[in-house]
Amino acid sequence: MTRYKIATIPGDGIGPEVMEAAVKVLRALEDGGGIGFDFVRLEAGDGLKGRTGVALPPETLDEVKRSDAGLFAAVGETAKEVILPLRQRLDLYANVRPAKAYPNVPCLKDDVDIVIVRENTEGLYKMVGDRGPDWGINVRVITRRASERIARFAFDLAEREGRGKVTSVHKNNVLDKTCGVFLEACRSVAASHPQIEYEEMIVDACAMKLILAPEKFDVLVTTNMFGDILSDEAAGLVGGLGMTPSANIGDENAIFEPVHGTAPDIAGRGIANPMAMMLSASMMLEWLREDDEAKTVERAVMRVLKDGRVRTPDLGGSAKTEEITSAIIQELIKI
Ligand code: IPM
Ligand code: MN
Repeated sequence: MTRYKIATIPGDGIGPEVMEAAVKVLRALEDGGGIGFDFVRLEAGDGLKGRTGVALPPETLDEVKRSDAGLFAAVGETAKEVILPLRQRLDLYANVRPAKAYPNVPCLKDDVDIVIVRENTEGLYKMVGDRGPDWGINVRVITRRASERIARFAFDLAEREGRGKVTSVHKNNVLDKTCGVFLEACRSVAASHPQIEYEEMIVDACAMKLILAPEKFDVLVTTNMFGDILSDEAAGLVGGLGMTPSANIGDENAIFEPVHGTAPDIAGRGIANPMAMMLSASMMLEWLREDDEAKTVERAVMRVLKDGRVRTPDLGGSAKTEEITSAIIQELIKI
C-alpha cells in the first residue's frame, strides 16, 4: 500500500467545509486498501492573520514542501499574502485549469472540454512596481525560461491527454516586448511537437471566441494575468465556479485548489458545493500517479451529477454539503 502525506490548508469562509468533504472522499478511498493518507492540517489566511498578524506562517510553507502534495481550499482578503507566495516560493509554475461541461449542470455551452495552462510565477504577478499619490506602475516581467517551461508543460499535457491542439494566447500587437518573448518560446516548443496543431490568438479575440465557439479550443497556454481572467471566463461557460478544479504544479511540489474563493455569503451554512474541491483532489491523485483512484473520484462525482437528485443550491438543488458528500461516497464504494 502506498501512503501519502497530504498538507491541507482549509483557510477561510467555505474553505474548511469543502476541505472536510474532500478529505472524507479521500478517506473513503482508503477502504479499498490500496492507498493511505496522512493529512497534516495547516493554517493560513484571514482568520489566522486576525489572530496572529501573519497570514502565511513559515511552518505552513515548510510543511507543504515536506509533504507529497498539498490541498488548498480558499482564503479571503489575504489571498495575495498566501496563495501567491505559495505558488512563487515553491516554484509551482504551471497553473492547470480544466473547464468541462458536466451533466445536469446548467451551463452556457455543453460542448466544452478545454484546459487552460497558465504561467503561475511571473508576468504582472511578479508584484514589481511603485505607487505615488497620483500614479501607479506594475511591471510585467516575462522571461524565456518561464515561457519555455510553461509551453513545454502545455505540449506535454496535450500529448499525455491525447489533445490535438495548443493555442497560445497573447497581446503581441500591443505588449510586443513581453509577449514577443512568450511567443518566441511557444513557437520553439511547438516546432519540436509537429504532431500537435499550434495556433496563436490575441487575448481579446480569444475571450470572445471562448463564448461563441468554445469547441474550437483544446489546450490554451498563456501568461499569468491572461490565464487568470480566461479561467474565470471558462468557469462561467461551464456553469460557474462550483465545478472548476485546478492544479499548481512545479518540479518538486504541487498544490491543488478549486478555482472558487471563500464565498462569504454562504459560509458556515453547510450548503457549499464541494465538487470543485473533490475534483481538485482527483487532479492531485493523478499527479501522484494514482490514475485509477483519480478516475474513481471523478466518476463518483459524475454519477451523482448524472443522477441529478442530490444537488447543492448553486446547481439548483437544496442538498447540504454533507448530503452530497455522502452520495458521492456511496457511488465511490460501488466503483
Ligand atoms: C485565482 C485567484 C488568485 C489569482 C487571487 C485570489 C490572488 O483569482 O487563483 O485565480 O489572481 O491568481
Ligand atoms: Mn482568478
